[in-house]
Amino acid sequence: MSSIKSDLWRQAYHLMPKVGWLNDPNGACYFQGTYHIYHQYVPDNVNGGATHWGHKTSKDLVHFKEEEIFLSPDQPYDKDGVYSGSAIEVDNKLHFFYTGNVKQPGDYDYLYTGREQNVVHVVSPDGYSVERREVVIPHSDFPKDFTAHIRDPKLFERDGMYYMALGGRKKDNTGAILLYESHDLDEWTYAGNLLEGTIDQGYMWECPDLFELDDKVVLIFSPQGIQAQPNKFLNPHAACYLIGEINWKTKTFLPETDFQELDLGFDFYAPQTFSDGSRRLLWGWMGIGDTSPEYIYPTVSQGWQHCLTMPRQLKLVGDKLYQEPIEEYQQIRTNHQHFKAGKNHNLTSASETYELLVSFTEKTDEFSLQLRQDTKLIYKDQLLILEHGPSGYGRRRRYAKLSNLQNIRIFSDHSSLELFINKGEVVMSTRVFPSQTNGIDFKADALVTLDHWLLDLNKGGD
Ligand code: FRU
Repeated sequence: MSSIKSDLWRQAYHLMPKVGWLNDPNGACYFQGTYHIYHQYVPDNVNGGATHWGHKTSKDLVHFKEEEIFLSPDQPYDKDGVYSGSAIEVDNKLHFFYTGNVKQPGDYDYLYTGREQNVVHVVSPDGYSVERREVVIPHSDFPKDFTAHIRDPKLFERDGMYYMALGGRKKDNTGAILLYESHDLDEWTYAGNLLEGTIDQGYMWECPDLFELDDKVVLIFSPQGIQAQPNKFLNPHAACYLIGEINWKTKTFLPETDFQELDLGFDFYAPQTFSDGSRRLLWGWMGIGDTSPEYIYPTVSQGWQHCLTMPRQLKLVGDKLYQEPIEEYQQIRTNHQHFKAGKNHNLTSASETYELLVSFTEKTDEFSLQLRQDTKLIYKDQLLILEHGPSGYGRRRRYAKLSNLQNIRIFSDHSSLELFINKGEVVMSTRVFPSQTNGIDFKADALVTLDHWLLDLNKGGD
């Protein structure tokens, strides 16, 4: 197995592959006092390939332990990838459902023919070992108006029935969320499509997620190829959400909002949520497919690629889903510096692993914040602009329309920035690959206070 060459861009407190490739978070759960997060993982190929499920555990969602690989593509029904899926706890056991990806050798388009995607059920008594693993929906059972792309089972329970949402690509190149139902997790029946898209809403919908929050139903999915709009949907693929209700007679989702992006930065896709009993938490992949040649991930030459976002707590505020960094991260804060209300601030950070809280004490119409080597945050004409220079490796500008800016919480790691604006009303995640350390320079037309902490994983934990 290859290993990592030392580099400046290894993350301090974000989850990364030990070596090789990582993509979607999978099987996120809180089970018998431990948080488990699995993820798409290809240890021996930095550019991806037949995925495994890597596995990390934590007691506090901040300090993680690397576990053995949980699932490998070693069965005839998943030989080309143990693709994404989810976990559900039933009778003190964990039940995982994933997509077994199979590509027949030969001259196929792999869209209509040559590919199988099987739904596989895994039973585990503890999250580490596998007691049973078998196909519960073979590819041949899928509805015939779909292409060969149907995947990423997300499980939920309601009134004693189990449901499975799957993402799919129909033969007319529109996306849809399929719904299956079961009494026992083994026998599954197709109950129709929860939601279907139009041609400009993407050709394939990946990684569905569905949950209740404050009496509403939130549906999350990742449309590939959604049509760009002015200052919106600028990435090749998006992660979106809708808020609404389910009509349980027709088993369809009735959206009450338009498609909204979960994250307005450059690097966010395929998020998955779970509940730990008291909160709805979300992890995303801080990466996207098909960004090249526009922007790239230069850690490839160091033997690894991609990381997950920090876990975020979801809240419903009006018709918006807010995402906030979980409070557990406060335990790794150190070296607090407070800058009292002023219009210009200049500070140095002893390390690039920090948290910076920008709080406006009066209304602002314009400001600029210089961060890291050549990253800027500019606010003008009610538009917040995230702008990278060369250390963005092709990432240039992303935008968030905001009529009122109250605060920005920035989490910086060696090669990423996550911006939580107005307590999570807007989030922007980006990878950035600077070669030198610079200070933080803030200029505004309004009074602002800054709070800066270094983040150190040696603090907190057991
Ligand atoms: C999303 C995705 C999923 C699939 C997995 C394969 O990034 O394409 O649809 O299950 O990645 O790695």
